[in-house]
Amino acid sequence: MTVESVRPEALAPDLREPPRAGGGVPGLGHGWKLVRDPLAFMSRLRDHGDVVRLKLGPKTVYAVTTPDLTGALALSNDFIIAGPLWESLEGLLGKEGVATANGPRHRRQRRTIQPAFRLDAIPAYGPIMEEEAHALTERWKPGETIDCTSESFRVAVRIAARCLLRGASMDERAERLCVALATVFRGMYRRMVVPLGPLYKLPLPANREFNRALADLHLLVDEIVAERRASGQKPDDLLTALLEAKDENGDPIGEQEIHDQVVAILTPGSETVASTIMWLLHMFAEHPEQADRVRDEVEAVTGGRPVAFADVRGLRHTNNVVVESMRLSPAVWILTRRAVRDTELGGYRIPAGADIVYSPYAIQRDAKSYERNLEFDPDRWLPDRVKDIPKHAMSPFSVGNRKCPSDHFSMAQLTLITAALAARYRFEQVAGSNDGTRVGITLRPHDLLLRPVPR
Ligand code: HEM
Repeated sequence: MTVESVRPEALAPDLREPPRAGGGVPGLGHGWKLVRDPLAFMSRLRDHGDVVRLKLGPKTVYAVTTPDLTGALALSNDFIIAGPLWESLEGLLGKEGVATANGPRHRRQRRTIQPAFRLDAIPAYGPIMEEEAHALTERWKPGETIDCTSESFRVAVRIAARCLLRGASMDERAERLCVALATVFRGMYRRMVVPLGPLYKLPLPANREFNRALADLHLLVDEIVAERRASGQKPDDLLTALLEAKDENGDPIGEQEIHDQVVAILTPGSETVASTIMWLLHMFAEHPEQADRVRDEVEAVTGGRPVAFADVRGLRHTNNVVVESMRLSPAVWILTRRAVRDTELGGYRIPAGADIVYSPYAIQRDAKSYERNLEFDPDRWLPDRVKDIPKHAMSPFSVGNRKCPSDHFSMAQLTLITAALAARYRFEQVAGSNDGTRVGITLRPHDLLLRPVPR
């Protein structure tokens, strides 16, 4: 089914109001359920309707629960990026980056960054991705316990920073970026779920650490930009594209926008890839037979030499393992939009200004879309089976004008890293590891500790 967005004057008079989800509590509405167990709550909403109304305190929020309507929402011009989630991100990371802009500015910014992520641009990043994937596995000593959170963050930040912002001192800066971003993400999540504004201004150790990390992140970005300008060099990369970009009037874009753009690309780029790597490591520990199958494919493709970037296209099964892991454990588990005009979705009236929410986690685990929906089965992505999966039931990078620009970039590095991990090790979870799901800006294991066992 395709749902076209319509202009207000064309809205059908018989549009219905979406049903209200059950289980609200007087005064609090559904907020307490959303806070207590957001994944279970979002996953059950489809039982109440295709579009349902939630009460979050005094506010009504609309939840979209079916694959076709989430696709329609993402593809419609009647909805923009806005809402409390984005506002809190803007406050910390800057207002002028591509992830939070709308309208003509957003279109212009996308045009600037897109070439760095095009399919034909990715092979140039191959040597760095290869080096970092092997460096990750070579760092570990047999028998030692690895902290999967910091290891995954490290490789994700290093690949994004080294590929997209090439530069002489990027090696050392990538290390500082890792430390700053990990602290900033931890603190941002706390500020979003427990929005006690004044409390975060108190001179407590955690607040000081957060403020230091945020300041260092912004300082690092300024250093990277200043150094590139001073060098007079213009390598063919994202930073050069940003420095050469022109605004709507043909004038160079401002310093603040360049800064915010770098932050807006580095931050989603590292948190999402890092969380996905953590889930892949977790899956290997839970399903050693999956690690063995990946290893077998890697050996068949490479003949036993270290896996290379050029092998990625041949690693079909490894790619399906990454996709299946992203299906069951998506880094991006919740997305929001705001209606810019009175409109409709699935025959329901959505008023101008309404906040809309949907969960890729719920959509991708839905029994209505997937046979044996909770089973880890990478073969469901084989060509003869993939056709049974409804459209938009698996859109981890979203669709439409806000689609992640980095889908090819991310899949290439994730496939390469997964291959490098399985070719070299099996993984065992160790005492003290906490693999419960941590619901934050992204989904990831709380504190995954593994022992890599060399093959
Ligand atoms: C946007 C997912 C990796 C940069 C998005 C969106 C999704 C997503 C779902 C759309 C958000 C929305 O519709 O509101 C992912 C996943 C990744 C990943 C699952 C990896 C597993 C990356 C990387 C980068 C990146 C590596 C950059 C290096 C961005 C940017 C946007 C975005 C800049 C904003 C695009 C816009 O608003 O026009 N991502 N992403 N992402 N992503 Fe990614």
